[in-house]
Amino acid sequence: MAGKNQTLGEFIIENQDSFKYTSGELSRLINSIRLAAKVVNHEVNKAGLVDITGAAGDINIQGEDQQKLDVYANDKFIQTLTKRNIVCGIASEEEDDFVAINSQDENNQNKYVVLIDPLDGSSNIDVNVSVGTIFSIFRRVTPAGTPVKLEDFLQKGSKQVAAGYVVYGTSTMLVYTTGDGVNGFTLNPAIGTFYLSHPNMTFPEDGNIYSVNEGNYLDFPLGIKKYIKYCQEEEGDRPYTSRYIGSLVSDFHRNMIKGGIYMYPKGSRNPNGKLRLLYECNPMAFLAEQANGKASDGYVRTMDVEPTELHQRVPFICGSRNMVDKAEEFMREFGE
Ligand code: AHG
Ligand code: MN
Ligand code: MN
Repeated sequence: MAGKNQTLGEFIIENQDSFKYTSGELSRLINSIRLAAKVVNHEVNKAGLVDITGAAGDINIQGEDQQKLDVYANDKFIQTLTKRNIVCGIASEEEDDFVAINSQDENNQNKYVVLIDPLDGSSNIDVNVSVGTIFSIFRRVTPAGTPVKLEDFLQKGSKQVAAGYVVYGTSTMLVYTTGDGVNGFTLNPAIGTFYLSHPNMTFPEDGNIYSVNEGNYLDFPLGIKKYIKYCQEEEGDRPYTSRYIGSLVSDFHRNMIKGGIYMYPKGSRNPNGKLRLLYECNPMAFLAEQANGKASDGYVRTMDVEPTELHQRVPFICGSRNMVDKAEEFMREFGE
């Protein structure tokens, strides 16, 4: 019974058999992400009312100030997945190292690891601009019932079994893929239920939006500068316009619906780009490809990049297929 009245819970049950591995574990996992998303949503919504905005006083492994909501969202997602004993390990943008969950217990047959950016766009919290959560799910490569290892997390994006995001926007949506297209669910806040509102989401093949922090322009590789100029220069009726929220989740979400490209290139301040391969780029790349879009570092498909460390950063270009092709063409021609 697909359609606007279908709830996320019903959708998960109905589609359980279409997952590659049907033990029900992945369904339970998506269900707990749904629950944690609702809890975080509740806190994000009252952010201006309670003492939850602003800095938490600590600096995370990436050298960034942690916001209180970063810490809150991180705790809620980790707690929800840990308490229900659903996965064998979690890696988070906000944790120095991965967290193992009873993985050494031989009775623990949990096969999945989750990588998460608990609160994306956190610099936007204090000004009431949309933020999000991004998640990426892999099957562990080491045997169940043995301690989870770094190699379980350092897998290429192409090995993901599911990925998604929550956008806490004018309405709250959970958008995810298990490798069979992308579906979006909108939260009805009055009853706390997600409904299938955006079945089979796809990027338009072409778009007219380019999203990039142009404040860093002078620092960009020549290929990106030339591509931006290509978007700006009047030639025929070139239709491009610029939109940049500064929350990857929200910029991606808009571009998927309207058609567009998101770019976070490298620069002298961010020699490998700013975005994190495992918590941000891989899950967004999986969603993009499942939605008929494309993602790369300018040369190499994001999901083919071999990860070498948990908090690795990579340049990221993602969105409508023809636009990403064009940007790559400029990178090949003009390079750094
Ligand atoms: P996070 O809040 O998880 O650290 O991520 C912020 C990221 C991403 O969401 C956004 O697109 C980008 O940083 C914005 O960076 P600039 O402020 O440098 O444009
Ligand atoms: Mn982020
Ligand atoms: Mn974050």
